[in-house]
Parts: sequence; structure tokens; C-alpha cells
Amino acid sequence: MTPGRGAMQSDYMHWAKTQSKVRFALSSSEVPHFRLDSLPLTIADLDLDGASHPRYAPLRSAIASRYGVASDNVVTANGTAMANFLAMATLIAPGDEVIVERPTYEPMLSAALFLGAEVRRVDRRAGDGFRLDIRQLEQLATPRTRLIVMANLHNPSGTLTSEEDLRAIGAIAERSGARVLVDEVYLDSAALPRRTSALLGSQFVITNSLTKVYGLSGLRCGWILAEPELAERMWRLNDLFGVNQPHQSEMLSCFAFQYLNEIARGTAERLQRNRALFNEFVAGRDELQCMTAEHGITAFPCREGGDTERLDELLRSKYDTSIVPGRWFEMPDHFRVGLGGDPDMLKEGLARLGSALDELK
Ligand SMILES: Cc1ncc(COP(=O)(O)O)c(C=O)c1O
Repeated sequence: MTPGRGAMQSDYMHWAKTQSKVRFALSSSEVPHFRLDSLPLTIADLDLDGASHPRYAPLRSAIASRYGVASDNVVTANGTAMANFLAMATLIAPGDEVIVERPTYEPMLSAALFLGAEVRRVDRRAGDGFRLDIRQLEQLATPRTRLIVMANLHNPSGTLTSEEDLRAIGAIAERSGARVLVDEVYLDSAALPRRTSALLGSQFVITNSLTKVYGLSGLRCGWILAEPELAERMWRLNDLFGVNQPHQSEMLSCFAFQYLNEIARGTAERLQRNRALFNEFVAGRDELQCMTAEHGITAFPCREGGDTERLDELLRSKYDTSIVPGRWFEMPDHFRVGLGGDPDMLKEGLARLGSALDELK
């Protein structure tokens, strides 16, 4: 489904929030939730005096030191979702040319349309492992291009963009006088640790959060890294959207940064195991094509001749299982599978997916 010019909502987000709960949620794109009360933390550690703290310095500094950048480069926001919107709203004026990858995480496309951008699309093709088409990007970019929008890892495919490709994208942006917004919410689920694009040059603006890979969605701790002058503009623009971030969440987020290794313990191994389970499942299904899942929390198989909407309906109604139909990524014959959950849940979810696929043959 492609949102239209001047979108006033995210149809995908609305859909995702209004689906009934299922036991085998292969539609989820996050790791299991982490319980913060398993950390050495008491209620007395939280400031409960009702005060809010503009640009809360300890959190900015925790984020900055994680990346080895200065606090001036850091803007905090309500999750990666608001970080993306804030970055885009700072960088896009009505009529600006913006290039958005296809397929994409729909709210990023809808946000660009909402902001009045002239949107052009650069493809990631299944046959090319969903690698962003750099030659096409080169042809699309003009001196009027203000922003290139992408995610690394890519949602839905989980594809990692190499540093070489990122540099090439950065060079194209630089020639146009544009910026590159890289949503890195899944980057910490790459098979091996990867550097943020923020370190590749001042044309890069990145967003991230403690949600998907750390199981801390409820904190809504998101951030943007940008050069200081741009970061300052984002803070100023954010004064129009809300006064400050909820302070207890900021304090809990500082705790989370202190214990991040503990919070992430076991995640890399679980994801590796889950990707192997998924790869094995796909290998046994003639009607599915999918590149080997190597990175990340999501995979995006193609169902031959497939209506994945019906597949999702059947899974939800009969198998207590869910996927994300490909129409939300403008590729209706594909569907997204989340690989972040408990391996036993994933195993059973894949078995049920297999039964539903059999039934639709
Ligand atoms: C690419 C991408 N960016 C941002 C988000 C939202 O992230 P957050 O929960 O940190 O706001 C999602 C959630 O699915 C996503 O897939």
C-alpha cells in the first residue's frame, strides 16, 4: 500500500496497533521485553519530585559516550519513530525533493509526504539481496534533493548495507547538498557489531532507540545523532511538539545504558539460532523464496504467486499466529517474519505457518 501525497496518518501503524493479539506473533519485530526490576534499582533511585529536565544531560552523555561523540551531537526523542519525524521535519520543507528507499518502513514515507516532500523512490530488489540500488540513486539525485531516507539494517529484509555502499550514498548526497537519514534501530542486531553511519561524515543523520534490540519499548528512549548546528535546530523544533521527555523514563534509560550488556545478554545467540531455524524452514518450502537470513530481527520471504493477505488472515483466524503482509511494504507477494522471539515460540510459529501454506496450496 503506497500512501498518497500529503499523508495525514500512518495506515501501517494503525493496522499494527489494532490487530488482535496472537500467541505466535511472527509479526513482531522486537526481542522479548526486558524486565527492568531485574536490575539493582529501587523506586528511591527515581526522582519523583515532579520536575522535568530540559535536554537531560546525563542521558545525552550516556548516548554520546556509547558512540564516542559529543553530547552536542545528541538529540533525544520519543523512540526512533519520533526521532525520524523530528529529523525529517527539520530537514524537509514543502516541495523539497526527498528520495526514500522501496520497500520501506511506511511511517518514514508517510512522514515525508506529510511534510510536503516531492518523494522519489530508490529500489532495493529481492534478486539483489535487497541491496540499495546505488546507480539508480545516482540517477535520481539532483541539486534539489534535500534528503535520502533509508534504514540500516533494512526493514523488512534485515539486509545490512556495507560501509562501502554507505560511503557511496554519502558521496551522492554531498554532491547534491543533501543529507542521508539512516534509521539504525536494528543495527545492533547485525551478526557482528557495526559502526554507526554518523561517524562517516556530517551529511549523515542517524536515529536509534532502546526498543527493538533491547526489549525496552516502554521507555520510548530514542535519539538522533547529527552535527551540532543541526542538532540544535532539532531541539528548537521539538519545542513545538512537546516541552520535555518524561523524566522517569529518562532516568530509567540512564540505568539501562549502565547495564546494557546485561540487558542484551543472550540476544545475539538467540537471534543466530532463530535465523538458522528460519533458514531451515525456508529451505524446506518450495513456494517460498528468501535470501539467507544473516542479520537482524526480520526476514522478508516471497510466496510464489502469493496473496499474503489471505495467508495472514488464515494464520490469525485458525493458527493463533501472525505475519506482516507485504502490502505494507508495497510488495504484496512478500511477507515479513519476525525472528526476535523465544526459539520455541518461533519453532511452533513456523510450523503453523507451514500448515497454513499447505492449506492454501
Ligand atoms: C525501521 C523502523 N524504524 C522505527 C521504528 C519504530 O521504533 P521505536 O519503537 O524506537 O519508535 C520501527 C518499528 O517497527 C522500525 O521498523
